[in-house]
Amino acid sequence: MSTDSKDRVVIFDTTLRDGEQSPGATMTHDEKLEIAGLLDEMGVDIIEAGFPIASEGDFNAVSEIAKNTKNAVICGLSRANLKDIDRCWEAVQHAARPRIHTFIGTSPLHRAIPNLTQDEMADRIHDTVTHARNYCDNVQWSPMDATRTEWDYLCRVVEIAIKAGAATINIPDTVGYTAPVESADLIRRLIAEVPGADEVVFATHCHNDLGMATANSLAAVAGGARQIECTINGLGERAGNTALEEVVMAMKVRSDIMPYHTGIDTTKIMHLSRRVSTVSGFQVQPNKAIVGKNAFAHESGIHQDGMLKNAETFEIMRPEDVGLSETNIVMGKHSGRAALRSKLKDLGYELADNQLNDVFVRFKELADRKKEVFDEDLVALVSVGEDAANDRLVIKSLRVSCGTGGPADADLVMAIDGIEKVAKQSGDGPVDATFKAVRELHPNSARLSLYQVHAVTEGTDAQATVSVRLEEDGNIATGQSADTDTVVASAKAYVNALNRLLVRRGKTGQDEKEISYKDVS
Ligand code: KIV
Ligand code: ZN
Repeated sequence: MSTDSKDRVVIFDTTLRDGEQSPGATMTHDEKLEIAGLLDEMGVDIIEAGFPIASEGDFNAVSEIAKNTKNAVICGLSRANLKDIDRCWEAVQHAARPRIHTFIGTSPLHRAIPNLTQDEMADRIHDTVTHARNYCDNVQWSPMDATRTEWDYLCRVVEIAIKAGAATINIPDTVGYTAPVESADLIRRLIAEVPGADEVVFATHCHNDLGMATANSLAAVAGGARQIECTINGLGERAGNTALEEVVMAMKVRSDIMPYHTGIDTTKIMHLSRRVSTVSGFQVQPNKAIVGKNAFAHESGIHQDGMLKNAETFEIMRPEDVGLSETNIVMGKHSGRAALRSKLKDLGYELADNQLNDVFVRFKELADRKKEVFDEDLVALVSVGEDAANDRLVIKSLRVSCGTGGPADADLVMAIDGIEKVAKQSGDGPVDATFKAVRELHPNSARLSLYQVHAVTEGTDAQATVSVRLEEDGNIATGQSADTDTVVASAKAYVNALNRLLVRRGKTGQDEKEISYKDVS
């Protein structure tokens, strides 16, 4: 592996901005802080913490992350107008190393929205980058939809942004349209032909609409880009963004043909992947490269035989390289607190004593019901129930009857602000009856936009993790829960999402209206 600084690729993580903007992936304030902390520990160079003008919530999260981050540069996004940039600076200024990222859509389709001529847009770019530079040295500029922008115009605006003081020029493939050869060529030509291009860092920002985001990002690096913009698990709108774990591991495993290096501690990948999956409610597909459940599983007889003789026969990287640790501690009902703490540490969770006590109680309950408690069970156990202390709605008990020959019935006891209430409802199946009972006690107009059940492990006694996404008056909240009883997990996930909607409303006293980065102004 080369250690030459010209071969150092900067990792710019946008899980908390482009990833979180994906409909339904909304994270709470505390979750954003936690993810930013983990990204910083993993060695991400730049964290794009949010879009400060979008909402009070985004602004507060970016400010807090800026105040608390030890190493990474903290970046905020802003559209190409002075108000956005002012607000962005207000949030990122607290960081030891702040960055303002400002952008405008430069392709013909995007220019048509604010109805600007090429000249008017060029002036706007000059003025906004100059304005950002008055606040801070570290300014990044992006021509959104660069890969569908006319070549001459792209060169012209990149040159303007460089002259106005942008230190990083990001070239987004906003709609995931480009292909690897073009991606490499575009960066190579920009560096060769735009005056001043050799003085700045070129970044690549790819979307995965055609499944080429990872290949396009790596090709851009071959073309001279030295910053990759990416998200954990490839989280992001539509088909998502470039997956951090894929580009980082590709450069590590194939350093023979991609002689670049990053500052990422790859052993932290798996834990971050699980946390992002949990807090966003976006499950990782089992066959997802690097972080999927099956990425290191060897089912077939031939593979298992080969693996036992020599792991390299079917493995190009070791599970421990990405933080998948195999330990020989088998967890069961006789396991103690120390064993649980040690196992959780191997899985990437360092819990405070009170948190460990809480997880230990739930672990014992689970171990009473399940003979063997697998790593996945523990991850599910740690990941749910975190909001419990502040929850306004709490399920106290639930009995359901269901089966052939009639509707299902649910008897529910739920505490609302500490006062227990009882409801009985019938429905088309146990989940329908249960959700109706919750609505009887807590009437709401939230629309259920996702209901997803996932078996944590094999076996009929497996825990189910349930994700529920609700939408109400423009607010989106995802709730999750895990239980060996699927209906109980469903009820708790539903109530978890309702609690989160209540928090989002409670913060402002009214619904938080958000601006999308696509609202051009
Ligand atoms: O995809 C995109 O173009 C973006 C920009 C805001 C950089 O996310
Ligand atoms: Zn994007």
